[in-house]
Amino acid sequence: MKALILVGGFGTRLRPLTLSVPKPLVEFANKPMILHQIEALKAVGVTEVVLAVNYQPEVMLNFLKEFEAKLGITISCSRETEPLGTAGPLALARDMLIDGSGEPFFVLNSDVMSEYPFKEMFEFHKGHGGEASIMVTKVEEPSKYGVVVMEETTGKVDKFVEKPKLFVGNKINAGIYLLNPSVLDRIELKPTSIEKEIFPKIAAEKKLYAMVLPGFWMDIGQPRDYIDGLRLYLDALRKKSSTKLATGPHIVGNVLVHESAKIGEGCLIGPDVAIGPACVVEAGVRLSRCTVMRGVRIKKHTCISSSIIGWHSTVGQWARVENMTILGEDVHVCDEIYSNGGVILPHKEIKSNILKPEIVM
Ligand code: GDD
Ligand code: MG
Repeated sequence: MKALILVGGFGTRLRPLTLSVPKPLVEFANKPMILHQIEALKAVGVTEVVLAVNYQPEVMLNFLKEFEAKLGITISCSRETEPLGTAGPLALARDMLIDGSGEPFFVLNSDVMSEYPFKEMFEFHKGHGGEASIMVTKVEEPSKYGVVVMEETTGKVDKFVEKPKLFVGNKINAGIYLLNPSVLDRIELKPTSIEKEIFPKIAAEKKLYAMVLPGFWMDIGQPRDYIDGLRLYLDALRKKSSTKLATGPHIVGNVLVHESAKIGEGCLIGPDVAIGPACVVEAGVRLSRCTVMRGVRIKKHTCISSSIIGWHSTVGQWARVENMTILGEDVHVCDEIYSNGGVILPHKEIKSNILKPEIVM
Protein backbone atom coordinates (compact mmCIF):
# COMPACT_ATOMS: atom_id res chain seq x y z
CA MET A 1 0.00 0.00 0.00
CA LYS A 2 1.00 3.58 -0.55
CA ALA A 3 0.59 6.81 1.36
CA LEU A 4 1.08 10.51 0.70
CA ILE A 5 1.90 13.03 3.42
CA LEU A 6 1.15 16.69 2.77
CA VAL A 7 4.26 18.49 3.95
CA GLY A 8 3.90 21.86 2.29
CA GLY A 9 3.26 25.11 4.03
CA PHE A 10 5.92 27.06 5.90
CA GLY A 11 4.87 26.14 9.42
CA THR A 12 4.68 29.82 10.34
CA ARG A 13 2.48 29.12 13.36
CA LEU A 14 5.26 27.01 14.85
CA ARG A 15 7.95 29.64 14.52
CA PRO A 16 10.66 30.07 15.76
CA LEU A 17 11.15 26.27 15.72
CA THR A 18 10.37 26.08 12.01
CA LEU A 19 13.07 28.66 11.29
CA SER A 20 15.57 25.86 11.99
CA VAL A 21 13.88 22.78 10.48
CA PRO A 22 10.79 22.09 8.34
CA LYS A 23 7.71 21.54 10.53
CA PRO A 24 7.50 17.76 9.99
CA LEU A 25 11.03 17.39 11.37
CA VAL A 26 10.28 19.26 14.61
CA GLU A 27 10.41 16.69 17.41
CA PHE A 28 7.29 15.83 19.33
CA ALA A 29 7.80 13.53 22.32
CA ASN A 30 11.46 13.17 21.31
CA LYS A 31 10.69 12.05 17.75
CA PRO A 32 10.23 14.13 14.58
CA MET A 33 6.50 14.53 13.93
CA ILE A 34 6.70 12.82 10.55
CA LEU A 35 8.37 9.72 11.97
CA HIS A 36 5.37 9.10 14.24
CA GLN A 37 3.32 8.95 11.05
CA ILE A 38 5.74 6.95 8.92
CA GLU A 39 6.20 4.32 11.63
CA ALA A 40 2.43 3.92 12.00
CA LEU A 41 2.00 3.62 8.22
CA LYS A 42 4.71 0.98 8.07
CA ALA A 43 2.98 -0.96 10.85
CA VAL A 44 -0.21 -1.25 8.78
CA GLY A 45 1.65 -2.51 5.72
CA VAL A 46 2.43 0.65 3.75
CA THR A 47 5.59 0.11 1.70
CA GLU A 48 5.89 3.47 -0.08
CA VAL A 49 5.45 6.95 1.33
CA VAL A 50 5.36 9.99 -0.93
CA LEU A 51 6.11 13.34 0.67
CA ALA A 52 4.32 16.19 -1.09
CA VAL A 53 6.72 19.06 -0.51
CA ASN A 54 6.93 22.59 -1.76
CA TYR A 55 10.21 23.63 -0.21
CA GLN A 56 13.47 22.16 1.12
CA PRO A 57 12.90 18.58 -0.15
CA GLU A 58 16.65 17.87 0.24
CA VAL A 59 16.51 18.55 3.98
CA MET A 60 13.62 16.16 4.41
CA LEU A 61 15.04 13.41 2.22
CA ASN A 62 18.52 13.58 3.74
CA PHE A 63 17.07 13.30 7.18
CA LEU A 64 14.75 10.43 6.30
CA LYS A 65 17.32 8.38 4.36
CA GLU A 66 18.51 6.71 7.54
CA PHE A 67 14.96 5.70 8.45
CA GLU A 68 14.15 4.33 5.00
CA ALA A 69 16.69 1.60 5.58
CA LYS A 70 15.88 1.13 9.26
CA LEU A 71 12.14 0.82 8.67
CA GLY A 72 12.34 -0.96 5.31
CA ILE A 73 10.07 1.53 3.58
CA THR A 74 10.52 3.63 0.44
CA ILE A 75 10.27 7.37 0.95
CA SER A 76 10.20 9.69 -2.04
CA CYS A 77 9.42 13.33 -2.68
CA SER A 78 6.99 14.92 -5.07
CA ARG A 79 8.07 18.52 -5.39
CA GLU A 80 5.80 21.40 -6.35
CA THR A 81 7.20 24.46 -8.05
CA GLU A 82 4.27 26.48 -6.72
CA PRO A 83 2.13 25.59 -3.68
CA LEU A 84 -0.70 23.37 -4.97
CA GLY A 85 -2.83 23.39 -1.81
CA THR A 86 -4.11 20.21 -0.22
CA ALA A 87 -5.45 18.46 -3.36
CA GLY A 88 -3.18 19.67 -6.19
CA PRO A 89 -0.22 17.68 -4.79
CA LEU A 90 -2.23 14.46 -5.25
CA ALA A 91 -2.66 15.20 -8.95
CA LEU A 92 1.07 15.97 -9.22
CA ALA A 93 2.00 12.67 -7.53
CA ARG A 94 -0.59 10.68 -9.50
CA ASP A 95 1.90 8.34 -11.16
CA MET A 96 3.62 7.67 -7.84
CA LEU A 97 0.32 6.73 -6.18
CA ILE A 98 -1.24 4.52 -8.83
CA ASP A 99 0.21 1.05 -9.36
CA GLY A 100 -2.65 -0.62 -11.17
CA SER A 101 -3.72 -2.64 -8.14
CA GLY A 102 -6.78 -0.46 -7.55
CA GLU A 103 -5.88 -0.35 -3.84
CA PRO A 104 -6.81 2.76 -1.88
CA PHE A 105 -4.00 4.96 -0.50
CA PHE A 106 -3.63 6.98 2.69
CA VAL A 107 -3.26 10.76 2.74
CA LEU A 108 -2.17 12.60 5.89
CA ASN A 109 -1.79 16.18 6.99
CA SER A 110 1.71 16.32 8.40
CA ASP A 111 0.81 18.06 11.67
CA VAL A 112 -1.87 15.74 13.07
CA MET A 113 -0.98 13.52 15.99
CA SER A 114 -3.03 10.53 17.13
CA GLU A 115 -2.65 6.81 17.61
CA TYR A 116 -3.27 6.52 13.85
CA PRO A 117 -5.83 3.69 13.77
CA PHE A 118 -5.07 2.92 10.11
CA LYS A 119 -6.08 -0.73 10.36
CA GLU A 120 -9.54 0.13 11.66
CA MET A 121 -9.82 2.77 8.96
CA PHE A 122 -8.93 0.28 6.24
CA GLU A 123 -11.63 -2.11 7.47
CA PHE A 124 -14.15 0.73 7.65
CA HIS A 125 -13.30 1.74 4.08
CA LYS A 126 -13.68 -1.79 2.72
CA GLY A 127 -16.99 -2.11 4.58
CA HIS A 128 -18.83 0.93 3.22
CA GLY A 129 -17.91 0.66 -0.46
CA GLY A 130 -17.74 4.43 -1.02
CA GLU A 131 -14.98 6.32 -2.75
CA ALA A 132 -13.25 8.04 0.16
CA SER A 133 -12.98 7.71 3.95
CA ILE A 134 -11.95 10.42 6.35
CA MET A 135 -11.29 10.31 10.09
CA VAL A 136 -13.23 12.75 12.22
CA THR A 137 -12.96 13.76 15.85
CA LYS A 138 -14.97 15.94 18.22
CA VAL A 139 -13.57 19.31 19.30
CA GLU A 140 -14.84 22.19 21.43
CA GLU A 141 -14.05 24.85 18.86
CA PRO A 142 -14.80 23.52 15.37
CA SER A 143 -14.51 26.82 13.49
CA LYS A 144 -10.75 26.47 12.80
CA TYR A 145 -11.22 23.06 11.17
CA GLY A 146 -13.18 21.32 8.42
CA VAL A 147 -16.57 20.34 9.84
CA VAL A 148 -18.42 17.19 8.84
CA VAL A 149 -22.13 16.50 9.07
CA MET A 150 -22.69 12.75 8.89
CA GLU A 151 -25.17 9.95 9.46
CA GLU A 152 -24.24 8.52 12.87
CA THR A 153 -24.97 4.89 12.03
CA THR A 154 -23.44 4.51 8.58
CA GLY A 155 -20.85 7.30 8.67
CA LYS A 156 -22.13 8.64 5.34
CA VAL A 157 -21.15 12.31 5.06
CA ASP A 158 -23.96 14.71 4.14
CA LYS A 159 -21.91 17.84 4.22
CA PHE A 160 -18.27 18.94 4.49
CA VAL A 161 -17.69 22.61 5.34
CA GLU A 162 -14.13 23.96 5.68
CA LYS A 163 -13.64 26.52 8.50
CA PRO A 164 -17.35 27.37 8.85
CA LYS A 165 -18.30 30.83 10.08
CA LEU A 166 -21.57 29.55 11.54
CA PHE A 167 -21.91 26.46 13.71
CA VAL A 168 -22.70 23.32 11.69
CA GLY A 169 -21.50 20.63 14.07
CA ASN A 170 -18.57 19.65 16.27
CA LYS A 171 -17.19 16.67 14.34
CA ILE A 172 -14.14 17.82 12.46
CA ASN A 173 -11.85 16.52 9.77
CA ALA A 174 -8.83 14.96 11.47
CA GLY A 175 -6.64 15.26 8.34
CA ILE A 176 -6.34 11.47 7.79
CA TYR A 177 -7.85 10.05 4.60
CA LEU A 178 -8.08 6.76 2.73
CA LEU A 179 -8.91 7.38 -0.93
CA ASN A 180 -9.71 5.17 -3.89
CA PRO A 181 -7.55 5.92 -6.96
CA SER A 182 -10.70 7.26 -8.69
CA VAL A 183 -10.52 10.34 -6.43
CA LEU A 184 -7.47 11.37 -8.47
CA ASP A 185 -9.71 11.72 -11.54
CA ARG A 186 -11.54 14.51 -9.72
CA ILE A 187 -8.42 16.62 -9.15
CA GLU A 188 -6.81 18.90 -11.72
CA LEU A 189 -3.13 19.76 -11.67
CA LYS A 190 -3.47 23.28 -10.26
CA PRO A 191 -3.75 24.83 -6.79
CA THR A 192 -6.78 23.08 -5.31
CA SER A 193 -8.15 22.59 -1.82
CA ILE A 194 -9.29 19.05 -1.04
CA GLU A 195 -11.42 20.45 1.79
CA LYS A 196 -13.16 23.18 -0.20
CA GLU A 197 -13.33 21.70 -3.68
CA ILE A 198 -13.10 17.91 -3.59
CA PHE A 199 -14.69 16.57 -0.39
CA PRO A 200 -17.89 18.67 -0.71
CA LYS A 201 -18.43 17.17 -4.20
CA ILE A 202 -17.82 13.57 -3.13
CA ALA A 203 -20.16 14.16 -0.17
CA ALA A 204 -22.86 15.53 -2.49
CA GLU A 205 -22.63 12.27 -4.47
CA LYS A 206 -22.95 10.32 -1.17
CA LYS A 207 -19.60 8.60 -1.67
CA LEU A 208 -17.72 10.17 1.25
CA TYR A 209 -17.70 8.32 4.59
CA ALA A 210 -16.39 9.39 7.97
CA MET A 211 -15.19 7.29 10.87
CA VAL A 212 -14.96 8.70 14.37
CA LEU A 213 -11.35 8.35 15.41
CA PRO A 214 -10.83 6.29 18.54
CA GLY A 215 -8.37 7.76 21.06
CA PHE A 216 -6.76 11.18 21.16
CA TRP A 217 -6.19 13.62 18.34
CA MET A 218 -4.45 16.96 18.04
CA ASP A 219 -3.23 19.27 15.28
CA ILE A 220 0.11 20.23 16.82
CA GLY A 221 0.86 22.95 14.28
CA GLN A 222 0.79 25.75 16.89
CA PRO A 223 2.51 26.02 20.29
CA ARG A 224 -0.54 25.85 22.56
CA ASP A 225 -1.87 22.78 20.77
CA TYR A 226 1.60 21.24 20.64
CA ILE A 227 1.85 21.48 24.44
CA ASP A 228 -1.71 20.17 24.93
CA GLY A 229 -1.03 17.43 22.42
CA LEU A 230 1.96 16.22 24.42
CA ARG A 231 -0.30 15.74 27.44
CA LEU A 232 -2.73 13.62 25.39
CA TYR A 233 0.08 11.66 23.74
CA LEU A 234 1.74 10.85 27.07
CA ASP A 235 -1.64 9.81 28.57
CA ALA A 236 -2.07 7.37 25.68
CA LEU A 237 1.51 6.16 26.05
CA ARG A 238 0.88 5.49 29.75
CA LYS A 239 -1.97 3.13 28.78
CA LYS A 240 -0.05 1.44 25.95
CA SER A 241 3.53 1.05 27.10
CA SER A 242 4.10 2.79 30.40
CA THR A 243 7.64 1.40 30.70
CA LYS A 244 8.76 4.11 28.25
CA LEU A 245 7.87 6.77 30.84
CA ALA A 246 10.27 7.96 33.52
CA THR A 247 9.83 6.90 37.13
CA GLY A 248 11.33 7.97 40.44
CA PRO A 249 10.77 10.28 43.40
CA HIS A 250 11.54 13.38 41.31
CA ILE A 251 8.92 12.54 38.64
CA VAL A 252 5.28 13.71 38.71
CA GLY A 253 2.75 12.27 36.21
CA ASN A 254 3.81 11.44 32.67
CA VAL A 255 7.38 12.33 31.73
CA LEU A 256 9.63 11.20 28.88
CA VAL A 257 13.38 11.49 29.42
CA HIS A 258 15.84 10.50 26.71
CA GLU A 259 18.38 7.97 27.97
CA SER A 260 21.29 10.31 27.25
CA ALA A 261 19.81 13.23 29.24
CA LYS A 262 21.21 14.00 32.69
CA ILE A 263 18.96 15.08 35.55
CA GLY A 264 20.52 16.67 38.66
CA GLU A 265 19.72 16.25 42.36
CA GLY A 266 16.51 17.55 43.89
CA CYS A 267 14.65 18.28 40.63
CA LEU A 268 10.89 17.97 40.32
CA ILE A 269 9.79 17.07 36.80
CA GLY A 270 6.28 16.67 35.39
CA PRO A 271 3.57 16.31 34.54
CA ASP A 272 3.64 16.25 30.74
CA VAL A 273 7.30 16.88 30.03
CA ALA A 274 9.58 15.57 27.27
CA ILE A 275 13.35 15.92 27.70
CA GLY A 276 15.41 15.22 24.59
CA PRO A 277 18.81 13.64 23.98
CA ALA A 278 22.00 15.11 25.49
CA CYS A 279 20.12 17.57 27.70
CA VAL A 280 21.54 18.60 31.07
CA VAL A 281 19.09 19.57 33.78
CA GLU A 282 21.00 20.84 36.81
CA ALA A 283 20.02 20.49 40.46
CA GLY A 284 16.76 21.78 41.88
CA VAL A 285 15.05 22.49 38.55
CA ARG A 286 11.23 22.43 38.28
CA LEU A 287 9.73 21.49 34.91
CA SER A 288 6.07 21.00 34.01
CA ARG A 289 4.07 20.86 30.75
CA CYS A 290 7.06 21.53 28.55
CA THR A 291 9.32 20.18 25.85
CA VAL A 292 13.09 20.46 26.14
CA MET A 293 14.80 19.64 22.87
CA ARG A 294 18.18 18.06 22.09
CA GLY A 295 21.29 19.50 23.71
CA VAL A 296 19.61 22.00 26.05
CA ARG A 297 21.17 22.97 29.39
CA ILE A 298 18.93 24.18 32.21
CA LYS A 299 20.87 25.60 35.10
CA LYS A 300 20.21 25.29 38.83
CA HIS A 301 16.90 26.18 40.49
CA THR A 302 15.16 27.27 37.31
CA CYS A 303 11.43 26.83 36.84
CA ILE A 304 9.91 26.17 33.40
CA SER A 305 6.23 25.56 32.65
CA SER A 306 3.99 25.49 29.54
CA SER A 307 6.91 26.26 27.23
CA ILE A 308 9.13 24.81 24.50
CA ILE A 309 12.91 25.09 24.78
CA GLY A 310 14.54 24.79 21.35
CA TRP A 311 17.67 22.79 20.46
CA HIS A 312 20.97 23.64 22.17
CA SER A 313 19.56 26.56 24.17
CA THR A 314 20.61 27.34 27.73
CA VAL A 315 18.45 28.72 30.49
CA GLY A 316 20.38 30.38 33.33
CA GLN A 317 20.00 29.65 37.04
CA TRP A 318 17.03 30.91 39.07
CA ALA A 319 15.20 31.82 35.85
CA ARG A 320 11.45 31.54 35.44
CA VAL A 321 10.14 30.65 31.99
CA GLU A 322 6.41 30.21 31.50
CA ASN A 323 3.14 30.85 29.63
CA MET A 324 3.96 29.63 26.09
CA THR A 325 7.51 30.88 26.03
CA ILE A 326 9.09 29.37 22.91
CA LEU A 327 12.87 29.51 22.57
CA GLY A 328 14.24 28.95 19.09
CA GLU A 329 17.44 27.05 18.47
CA ASP A 330 20.56 28.14 20.42
CA VAL A 331 18.96 30.83 22.59
CA HIS A 332 20.67 31.90 25.81
CA VAL A 333 18.53 33.07 28.68
CA CYS A 334 20.64 34.77 31.36
CA ASP A 335 20.46 34.00 35.10
CA GLU A 336 17.38 35.13 37.06
CA ILE A 337 15.43 36.16 33.95
CA TYR A 338 11.62 36.01 33.88
CA SER A 339 9.91 35.19 30.57
CA ASN A 340 6.14 35.41 30.37
CA GLY A 341 5.26 34.14 26.89
CA GLY A 342 8.37 35.34 25.07
CA VAL A 343 8.82 33.95 21.56
CA ILE A 344 12.56 34.13 20.94
CA LEU A 345 14.17 33.78 17.54
CA PRO A 346 17.23 31.51 17.11
CA HIS A 347 20.68 32.53 18.40
CA LYS A 348 19.46 35.35 20.70
CA GLU A 349 20.64 36.21 24.17
CA ILE A 350 17.98 37.32 26.63
CA LYS A 351 19.39 39.70 29.25
CA SER A 352 16.23 41.44 30.46
CA ASN A 353 12.83 40.24 31.63
CA ILE A 354 9.97 39.65 29.21
CA LEU A 355 6.91 40.68 31.16
CA LYS A 356 4.21 40.04 28.58
CA PRO A 357 3.92 37.76 25.52
CA GLU A 358 6.01 39.24 22.72
CA ILE A 359 8.32 38.21 19.89
CA VAL A 360 12.01 38.91 20.44
CA MET A 361 13.89 39.19 17.14
N1 GDD B 1 2.41 19.94 -0.46
C1 GDD B 1 1.65 20.90 0.03
N2 GDD B 1 1.40 22.00 -0.72
N3 GDD B 1 1.14 20.75 1.28
C2 GDD B 1 0.38 21.75 1.77
C3 GDD B 1 0.10 22.94 1.05
C4 GDD B 1 0.65 23.06 -0.28
O1 GDD B 1 0.45 24.04 -1.00
N4 GDD B 1 -0.69 23.74 1.83
C5 GDD B 1 -0.87 23.07 2.99
N5 GDD B 1 -0.22 21.87 2.98
C6 GDD B 1 -0.19 20.84 4.01
C7 GDD B 1 0.27 21.34 5.37
O2 GDD B 1 1.66 21.14 5.53
C8 GDD B 1 -0.50 20.42 6.30
O3 GDD B 1 0.17 19.18 6.51
C9 GDD B 1 -1.79 20.13 5.56
O4 GDD B 1 -1.52 20.41 4.19
C10 GDD B 1 -2.97 20.97 6.05
O5 GDD B 1 -2.60 22.32 6.04
P1 GDD B 1 -2.72 23.23 7.35
O6 GDD B 1 -2.23 24.59 6.99
O7 GDD B 1 -2.13 22.57 8.54
O8 GDD B 1 -4.31 23.31 7.45
P2 GDD B 1 -5.22 23.52 8.73
O9 GDD B 1 -4.62 22.93 9.94
O10 GDD B 1 -5.60 24.96 8.79
O11 GDD B 1 -6.57 22.70 8.30
C11 GDD B 1 -6.47 21.36 7.83
O12 GDD B 1 -6.27 20.46 8.91
C12 GDD B 1 -7.37 20.39 9.85
C13 GDD B 1 -7.00 19.34 10.89
O13 GDD B 1 -5.87 19.73 11.56
C14 GDD B 1 -7.76 21.00 7.06
O14 GDD B 1 -7.56 19.74 6.46
C15 GDD B 1 -8.97 20.94 8.00
O15 GDD B 1 -10.10 20.47 7.30
C16 GDD B 1 -8.67 19.99 9.15
O16 GDD B 1 -9.77 20.00 10.07
MG1 MG C 1 -2.80 22.13 10.49
